[in-house]
This record gives sequence, C-alpha cells and structure tokens, in this order.
Amino acid sequence: MANKEVDDWNAKLYDDKHAFVSKYGKAIIQLLAPKQGEQILDLGCGTGDLAYNLYEQGVTIIGVDKSEKMIQQAQLKYPSIKFIVRDVLDLTYSNTFDAVFSNATLHWVKQPQQALRALYSSLKPGGRFVAEFGGKGNVKTITDEIIRQIHQLEIPYSPENFPWYFPSIGEYTSLMEEAGFSVVYAEWIDRPTPLDGDNGLRNWISQFSSSLLDSTTELVKEELITRVETTLKGTLYQNGKWVADYKRLRVTGYKN
Ligand code: BEZ
Repeated sequence: MANKEVDDWNAKLYDDKHAFVSKYGKAIIQLLAPKQGEQILDLGCGTGDLAYNLYEQGVTIIGVDKSEKMIQQAQLKYPSIKFIVRDVLDLTYSNTFDAVFSNATLHWVKQPQQALRALYSSLKPGGRFVAEFGGKGNVKTITDEIIRQIHQLEIPYSPENFPWYFPSIGEYTSLMEEAGFSVVYAEWIDRPTPLDGDNGLRNWISQFSSSLLDSTTELVKEELITRVETTLKGTLYQNGKWVADYKRLRVTGYKN
C-alpha cells in the first residue's frame, strides 16, 4: 500500500479502522487462485493480513512494502512470514516468482512503466501478475472536495502534489503490454465502500491524504476535514455510514 515519500503511515489506525482493505482483498486472492508450493510476492503487503491468508494456503510468500512501520507491524503479527521494506521501483528480483500479487497499492505508484518493468522481471516465464487498485475516477468525490477546500483555505497546492495514479483500463493494460505482459483480464468496478464508524471519512482523510496537507498546521487540517465532512454529508453519508466512492481496476497479465 505504501509508496509515499515520507513514511507517515499509522499502522495501528490502519489495522483498527481500515480493515476493509484486506477484507475486500479476498476477492483478488480468488482471482490469483494460488496453488500450494507456489512462490508469490505480495507487493504493498501493508500489515500482512493477505500475505498470511496466502501463507495459510501453503504458498511461500514474501511481503514487500515501502513503509517501515507497516512492515514492523506485519512482522510482529506474522513472525513466520518474510517481510521486506522495499519500494517497488527498487525491486531487483529476476525470474523468481510464480506470481506477483498486489492489492490497493499501485495507485500510489506514479511511475507505472518502471513498476511494471520491475514486476515483469521478478516473475518466472509463464508467471502471472494479478492486481487490484484504484482506477479512473477513484474517490473523485472526496479528492475534488479536498482540493476545493485546499484552495479555499489557501493551502499551497499544485497538481503534482496529488499523490495517486488512477488510470483507465485502456491506459493501464497498454502499459502492461508495453512491459511485455499478455493481458488476459481487466475489469473496472464501481465499488462504493463503507468506512468504519461516524468518523469514517475523517479517519480516511487523516490516514491517506496527509501528503496533500503536509504543508499546513494541524489546526487548518482539522478545519479542512470538518468542511469536507459538512459538504459531503449529503452525498457520501448514507444510512448512518460514510461510503467512499471507490472505483477499482482489476488486472491479470502473464509473462511470456
Ligand atoms: C484506494 O484504495 O483506492 C485508495 C486508498 C487510499 C487513498 C486513495 C485511494
């Protein structure tokens, strides 16, 4: 999950309030269809829950995440799994894995060509790359409002500060093909995602959008989040719950 310049992940908040990330990840494990004895790389393993699910299925799993805090928490929870702190762009594996699997991470990677090259190289010939991440339009209602409030509160911002990459199916599958993959499956999914508790949107913004708000004070950040909540309550607060406008991209490609 983590591919940010500063390791400002809160691994505990992540486990306490964003467990839905791993919960939804189970669908992508079905798409991966792991087999006992396979060597699989979990890219962006976060605090390790999906890596553990694969481990329990008899997979030899290596979990990689850019965030040291996430990896520390993962290693504490699952001492028998190998976890490594590493940016996808710094991976040096060659013909090593039967599969590379990634859930809710690749939208943090703003150099997708380089990432896809590293992942392609890390696979054995015939190996598969199976991923799910934010696709075109992901969380647009939330991020549009955050940016509108950033301007209103005169917080410094330029589009390069936008920390995510949310590609369309066409764009990403073309990049996969350029990297050498045979793309066998791609789907864009509208998946409204309930957030945990009355502070669901507040916690989501605090956990995930901090790099957009780094240049301001805690007080202004709080004000911005409150304004975003007030404006979006009519659209994203439904039946007593905050629901984020997630749009997922799911892909499978094979190394030739
Ligand atoms: C996502 O999983 O789509 C996501 C998570 C955090 C920030 C932006 C997108």
